[in-house]
Amino acid sequence: MSEEIKAPEKKKRIFSAIQPSGTITLGNYVGALRNWVRLQDDYDCIFAVADLHAITVRQDPKEFKKNILEAYALFLACGIDTEKSIFFIQSHVHTHAELAWLLNCYTQFGELSRMTQFKDKSAKHADNVNAGLFTYPSLMAADILLYQADLVPIGADQKQHLELTRNIADRFNGIYGKTFTVPDAYIPEVGARIKSLQDPTKKMSKSDENVNAWVAILDKPETIMKKFKRAVTDSEARVCVGEGKDGINNLIGIMGSVTGKTADEITAEFEGKGYGDFKTAVGEAVVETVRPIQDKYNKLISDKAYLEEQYRKSAEIALRISQRTLDKAKKKIGYIL
Ligand code: TYM
Repeated sequence: MSEEIKAPEKKKRIFSAIQPSGTITLGNYVGALRNWVRLQDDYDCIFAVADLHAITVRQDPKEFKKNILEAYALFLACGIDTEKSIFFIQSHVHTHAELAWLLNCYTQFGELSRMTQFKDKSAKHADNVNAGLFTYPSLMAADILLYQADLVPIGADQKQHLELTRNIADRFNGIYGKTFTVPDAYIPEVGARIKSLQDPTKKMSKSDENVNAWVAILDKPETIMKKFKRAVTDSEARVCVGEGKDGINNLIGIMGSVTGKTADEITAEFEGKGYGDFKTAVGEAVVETVRPIQDKYNKLISDKAYLEEQYRKSAEIALRISQRTLDKAKKKIGYIL
């Protein structure tokens, strides 16, 4: 009797990246980063610190350098494991900028003009509406397509960029034959759009001038508690999901995403209790979630040699993989290699 031997199934490829702003928020963690960590065992994962994207807004050189390294250390502290995944710094792998240029020539002005992030950021930085801010989605497309990614774990705000990436890939493949894998977005059911604690109709964003609007993974426990205690709610004083209850809906979403409890379980638990108790409980749950990350981060950030070893090793592999795709695309266009 012969037993059928199956070849091991090839793991699907994942790519994602986060910009190294000084503040990595709870939104970044719950919407994206935490899923990266969870996906590492089942997928072939490639992650990056998107430092090329970050200069679409002006950066102070000293701060910027510090932020890049801190973001790298923080993502490792969150659980990115370089034994399982490739995790590099985007500017160390030159193929990204090169493919981005090529893809710019397959991306329409009208498509880029429709990007809500471009509209928002150009309104916010009216004195610096640079070409990079406009063509940013072509660079993001290059990041993803270079690695032939099947899935891209992101929060809901990046969905439009991912759709554009798919269109660019389809267009290129349509002209030259299959060159790029057309990727799917991987958006979590809970936590895909964590809202501002001060204006819960807007997403939680590190660029919000009101520091009470966002919670950073590296905020001190007392700061986190203070921010949750100040969170905007409503006058109904009932902990349940409902229309016109954006603040409470958001807090229930945050509580659910850090504890794994459903909205119904949370509602039952806080039946008859006031918003003060609930806000304290959400704050405590978040503090408990970030505490082990902060402990690990504090150890990692003081070991610069270890960090360098990790990002150099990963960049080397990323370059090898991405160069294959870049050469393939260039050949199809007609370049002499
Ligand atoms: P960035 O750096 O703004 O955000 C990183 C990730 O965090 C998610 N996110 C949120 N999720 C839930 N609630 C929120 N309030 C919230 N705020 C942010 C984002 O959706 C994102 O997944 N362009 C990207 C970075 C990038 C990238 C890529 C992503 C560059 N190249 C290639 C995927 C693939 C950005 O600016 O994300």
